[in-house]
Amino acid sequence: MSNTTPHYLFLTTSTRESGHLGNTEWLAQQAAAALPAGTVQTWHHLARMSLPPFVDLRHTVGTYPVPEGDLKTLLDATLAATHIVFVSPVYWFSIPSPLKTYLDHWSGWMRVPGLPFKEQMAAKSLFLITTSGDRAKAQPMIDSVELCAKFLSMPWGGALWGKGGPPGAVQADAQAVAQAAHFLLPK
Ligand SMILES: Cc1cc2nc3c(=O)[nH]c(=O)nc-3n(C[C@H](O)[C@H](O)[C@H](O)COP(=O)(O)O)c2cc1C
Repeated sequence: MSNTTPHYLFLTTSTRESGHLGNTEWLAQQAAAALPAGTVQTWHHLARMSLPPFVDLRHTVGTYPVPEGDLKTLLDATLAATHIVFVSPVYWFSIPSPLKTYLDHWSGWMRVPGLPFKEQMAAKSLFLITTSGDRAKAQPMIDSVELCAKFLSMPWGGALWGKGGPPGAVQADAQAVAQAAHFLLPK
């Protein structure tokens, strides 16, 4: 597969129990279903993976080993993707802790000897699909994710927001459902 073949990586971060489909993931499924037939998709559920706490070694060891286990799975999936989609509800005006942990590890991946992580990330687009109770109060979280994209020179695909709540609530947000049908398509 060439680097330019579209490959969408969906990282879900809701902490709902297994088997309980959250609003954000449901909305992301609608967006994914609108991709051209055959588009490669990889989905990972961060809250169901074993992500070690991030340790800041920048000013001691200075470098990081190639990760192992689930973290290696995520690094490989991240590098293989052309489009990365954070499927993340708003938690406390911010991102859920599994996504924060994954993002913190980007700092380590930038310092794995021989791994041009930063250079490769600049070729990937970053999208955010999110739900929460209130659109205006989601803005700091959306801004934060966009700034992460900018930090790594990643093209910003934008944010798709839907009104969440209990499972199924976002299905009543007709605007979000309509936007999902074209959100991930080339603009
Ligand atoms: C720990 C926690 C923190 C939350 N914080 C916010 C918040 O700051 N603002 C908000 O509007 N909704 C907040 N919510 C509500 C969720 O964003 C909302 O229910 C969302 O649709 C859940 O997504 P999910 O169904 O995909 O899990 C919070 C929910 C949880 C569990």
